[in-house]
Amino acid sequence: MTGPIIKVRDVAWVRLGSPDLDEAERFLTDFGLLRQVRTDDALYMRGTGEAHHLHITQRGPDRVLGIGFYADSESDLHRLAAHAAGASGVMELNEPGGGKVVRLKEHNGFTIEVVHGIAEVAKLPERHSVMNTGAARERLGEFQRIDPRPCQAKRMGHAVLSTPDIEGSVAWAHRHLGFVVSEHVHAEDDPDTLLASFNRADRGEDYVDHHIMMFGRHSRAGLNHISYEVQDIDDLHAGHDWMKQRGHHHLWGIGRHLLGSQIFDYWKDPWGRVHEHWTDTDVLNAAMPARVVPKSQGLRSQWGPQAPPEFRDAASV
Ligand SMILES: [Fe+2]
Repeated sequence: MTGPIIKVRDVAWVRLGSPDLDEAERFLTDFGLLRQVRTDDALYMRGTGEAHHLHITQRGPDRVLGIGFYADSESDLHRLAAHAAGASGVMELNEPGGGKVVRLKEHNGFTIEVVHGIAEVAKLPERHSVMNTGAARERLGEFQRIDPRPCQAKRMGHAVLSTPDIEGSVAWAHRHLGFVVSEHVHAEDDPDTLLASFNRADRGEDYVDHHIMMFGRHSRAGLNHISYEVQDIDDLHAGHDWMKQRGHHHLWGIGRHLLGSQIFDYWKDPWGRVHEHWTDTDVLNAAMPARVVPKSQGLRSQWGPQAPPEFRDAASV
């Protein structure tokens, strides 16, 4: 079979092992997620969107346990189980939210969970700032007041893996998850050396986020970061102040990426796993060809600080 086995719809969640659920919940609550269910052994956090949960913490050693993606249908789960080497069968997810899963190992051995039929929950009210800009006055007779508070994470946005064999990782993801390339970053002096690969879901004419999975070349395989969309720039800044005041480890931001264009802010959880807030991504569709850009544009901020070495080296296992 050539071409992808299936095309996933979106990224669903990250599953992390953490030794202390109280500490995990404190960080994630300050980060802007909300407890959906907590059991003796696991914590399921939601955002304001319809996903039952988008961050799972299992009590145990500090480990990256999996990254979840939504399949379009249960028949896609069966197709993946039948055609992907080493895939599990289609299994019930015996946890809150239910649904079904196929588990498989990506190129470096990290677990990928492709899921379908997870329960949805009612959306929660969201705070959106109405901005009066140089071009248009849209907030008329209303005051802009931002209370101190965590931001409101809406949904999971993407996952980024560091990988020593980036070509192999990208090929695996394209075949098993059906991504298309939005932008590839190449070495300045060698267009054949791939340094980073930004991949989006293939939804044809529908516009989707610039990337839901990215790979960066690195000497070690690991999770570079996971990312959550917040409501807007006021929400992101208010969330930044809240996290700072609560003593969390800030890594990089606030800035605006060049590739993807998101306004971003990065934080480390108590075990060093990098969690990003972003707002205002580029959205692309099938009419947009893959772009190739040089290294100088790869991790560039259009404004705000440039990436510290600690960010480039993040590779949690
Ligand atoms: Fe990111």
